[in-house]
Amino acid sequence: MTVDVLLGLQWGDEGKGKIVDVLTRNYDIIARFQGGPNAGHTLEFDNIKHVLHTIPSGIFHKGALNVVGNGVVIDPVIFKREVDDLLKHNVDVNKALLISRKAHLILPSHRLLDAASEQAKGKNKIGSTLKGIGPTYMDKTGRNGLRVGDIELDDFKDRYNHLLTKHKQILSHYHEFEYDLDSLEPEWFEAVDFLRSLNLIDSEHYVNAALKKGKTILAEGAQGSLLDIDFGSYPFVTSSTTMCAGSCTGLGIAPNRIKNVYGIFKAYCTRVGSGPFPTELHDEMGEELRQKGHEFGATTGRPRRCGWLDLPALRYAIDINGVTHLIMMKSDVLSGLEKIKVCTSYRYKGTEIDHLPYSIEEGLIEPIYTELAGWKEDITSLDNYEEAPRELKDYVSFLQKELGVPITIISVGPDRNQTIHLEESAVV
Ligand code: GDP
Ligand code: IMO
Ligand code: MG
Repeated sequence: MTVDVLLGLQWGDEGKGKIVDVLTRNYDIIARFQGGPNAGHTLEFDNIKHVLHTIPSGIFHKGALNVVGNGVVIDPVIFKREVDDLLKHNVDVNKALLISRKAHLILPSHRLLDAASEQAKGKNKIGSTLKGIGPTYMDKTGRNGLRVGDIELDDFKDRYNHLLTKHKQILSHYHEFEYDLDSLEPEWFEAVDFLRSLNLIDSEHYVNAALKKGKTILAEGAQGSLLDIDFGSYPFVTSSTTMCAGSCTGLGIAPNRIKNVYGIFKAYCTRVGSGPFPTELHDEMGEELRQKGHEFGATTGRPRRCGWLDLPALRYAIDINGVTHLIMMKSDVLSGLEKIKVCTSYRYKGTEIDHLPYSIEEGLIEPIYTELAGWKEDITSLDNYEEAPRELKDYVSFLQKELGVPITIISVGPDRNQTIHLEESAVV
């Protein structure tokens, strides 16, 4: 059978966790393929809110298997906390959760290196989540990393010490940076012991065997396309391949196995951390979106920067991912606005362009907006697209026409049930 991929088309936090949870009933396996505890995926049902960082968002469905793929980086301490939370909610982790031996480990010293690097960058800092993501992927590509499978080897401690020696040497160059590694190590080693007791698998064999048996897989992206290491707003990006191709390298599946690519976007736009954001609103409107949309990070609690929807950026993300279906999130947040603006092109060095250029820094690029009428109605209880306000329908068809890909789901609230599935013929 085939693999479907679900990924964020903006700067992350589009609502991936919620929709993976909604779609899980259609799949046998949900698999994360990149990123790590920098992600915060929120799910809400039965009046309980869950935030997952490393564990796939299918974990609350009985019968679904959840794979943490080789492309993911794992901090055993955060992983253990997540599993402990799941146990409190009676999730059968032993049955439902499988971890790739080839996933890389985030060491306490990776987190220190992340913090030291950010401190040294000063006002040019990336705004990293400080979870050690960058340094861990650097060790992976630098061929120094430790992998989950290493914790099963007799000489794991030697390998750890070898890498730590390297890290201490690097840290010694950050003269201003003070750290206390001794206070971090005991909890980390305890968590490594815990990790050893979970289901560690050769995930590439596992997923390919599952596909041969006719199983269906949904690959769950983390972060978003504009944070991709190659195609995002470099250097203000994360350190992994967040786009569709990352699901192949992060799970060991062949490109021709991929069928549907679900691209998720918010009905407006947000970004957390530093870096360019052409449609950012620095005014009251931005604050209104932040408050109404509760735009505060699920991992770090930082306020998210807010702005209007950016279609050239969205088209770019659709192209590089081969998106087949669009999913629009947080439509309810726009309720009550007189006018909604959408960026349809940019003025760049004096000329109007409709694509995302190499440099998108403020001052170089200016968004050109189209204004659409807003809707007054509260849509959080809407369960049928037919009954949606006219102006919302107009917004959806405008976007669909501009983007050239069908919008198949509209989300109108954080709960699992606040999800409207659209027939393709519904959008005219
Ligand atoms: P992810 O990282 O892509 O999984 O997204 P996050 O969980 O970081 O951020 C999305 C936030 O929006 C979470 O707090 C969700 O509960 C919430 N959310 C998701 N969909 C909707 C929606 O349609 N409306 C509203 N108001 N909130 C939503
Ligand atoms: P989810 O999966 C939003 C951002 C950080 C920072 C940059 C680099 O919840 O959508 P890193 O810690 O990866 O080195 O940080 O990327 N970032 C995210 N922003 N959602 C995320 O994940 C993010 N993961 C990383 O804020 O700007
Ligand atoms: Mg998030």
